[in-house]
Amino acid sequence: MVNRKHNRDDLVIRKAQEDDLPVLVGFLAKLALHVAGAAPKKLKKKERTRLMEFLAAALVDNDKLVVVAELPDTGLVGMAYIYVWRSQGIWEQAADHEFKSGVIDDIWVEPEFRKLGIFSSMLKALIAFAEKRDVPELILEYAISNKEADATWKRLGFEVTGVRAAAFTNQVKAKLTTGA
Ligand SMILES: CC(C)(COP(=O)(O)OP(=O)(O)OC[C@H]1O[C@@H](n2cnc3c(N)ncnc32)[C@H](O)[C@@H]1OP(=O)(O)O)[C@@H](O)C(=O)NCCC(=O)NCCS
Repeated sequence: MVNRKHNRDDLVIRKAQEDDLPVLVGFLAKLALHVAGAAPKKLKKKERTRLMEFLAAALVDNDKLVVVAELPDTGLVGMAYIYVWRSQGIWEQAADHEFKSGVIDDIWVEPEFRKLGIFSSMLKALIAFAEKRDVPELILEYAISNKEADATWKRLGFEVTGVRAAAFTNQVKAKLTTGA
């Protein structure tokens, strides 16, 4: 049973392991529904398998880290993921060398445990990972409609630096061919 007054000194932040994957897949499913604003629904077996494989691959990749937040008596209450993304810096745009960013993704804290500093604790582990790999910058994407995420990222010092635009390939193709 969830205990809001849980002593946070008991919180354990650690690298995810194989045993955690079924719970983490559940977190990813809840995150997807949260972002889409959709009603709860069950994952299909095929979807579950794909997500398990995605996370299992991240566990053994030196450029990726999945961390979990765990409370004794409760189990896992959150997850966070970071991976190293490399781009080629040119002159004033960046430095004249390969530039590394730490992309933060798949962040989830169980609703009953939010605003207790659990994500901030996981973020410290992501930062330690980034520092170890000489990654000077953290980047992430979130939906503007995701108010909790917007408040959290801004509070933690993230600033909006661009706009992500998306379109279906066939619609862009139709635009080019017909101008429609
Ligand atoms: C976003 C999320 C991960 C934050 O986790 P959390 O454990 O509650 O975050 P923390 O308690 O560490 O809070 C970090 C900072 O953000 C602030 N914050 C967190 N949620 C907030 C909210 N809803 N409104 C205003 N500020 C908020 C905290 O006050 C804290 O600032 P402080 O240290 O100055 O007090 C959590 O709300 C969540 O899982 N949301 C649903 C999933 C999601 O949106 N993921 C991100 C997708 S990009």
